[in-house]
Amino acid sequence: MPGKIPDAQALADVAAYIGTLCFPLDSGKYEGADAAKQVAEGKQLYNNKCAMCHQENGAGRKDALYPVLAGQHYKYLLRQMTDVRDGKRVDVPVEMFDAIKTYDNAQLVAIAAYQASLKTPQLLMCRTPTDKTKM
Ligand code: HEC
Repeated sequence: MPGKIPDAQALADVAAYIGTLCFPLDSGKYEGADAAKQVAEGKQLYNNKCAMCHQENGAGRKDALYPVLAGQHYKYLLRQMTDVRDGKRVDVPVEMFDAIKTYDNAQLVAIAAYQASLKTPQLLMCRTPTDKTKM
């Protein structure tokens, strides 16, 4: 298969490279007319059951492998959370699965709207990969 990553070292090299890249400044947001309401509702739901791992600011925790959520694309977040809740993505801790399975589709929309509205952590914000070294 073209582009297949051949071994563990190559995979580590690709991960190291991706780790130097930046989040886009114009990430996808929830665009409905009720965005303010969705974001406010999502904040409650997120802080109740998710912030203990992903942090209130959505920055995650590098020591514990809790991923950054702040500033990620809205549609990506919604898809991942729906897949986790519906058992299609199974690589998350059981505590996350237990938390997310209590939320319905409308609640996941609100949570994704909130997460996408959070400010991307300063270090990840840059216009080009090389900008990051200047921050
Ligand atoms: C016990 C800690 C923990 C809790 C609680 C938790 N998560 Fe997670 N979450 C994780 C970890 C760890 C991963 C990454 C799993 C992996 O390696 O793929 C993750 C992945 C995710 C992802 C996918 C990120 C990506 O880039 O693909 C989303 C979105 C997410 N969590 C949202 C939530 C939401 C919403 C809640 C609350 C309902 C929640 N999490 C609760 C630990 C947690």
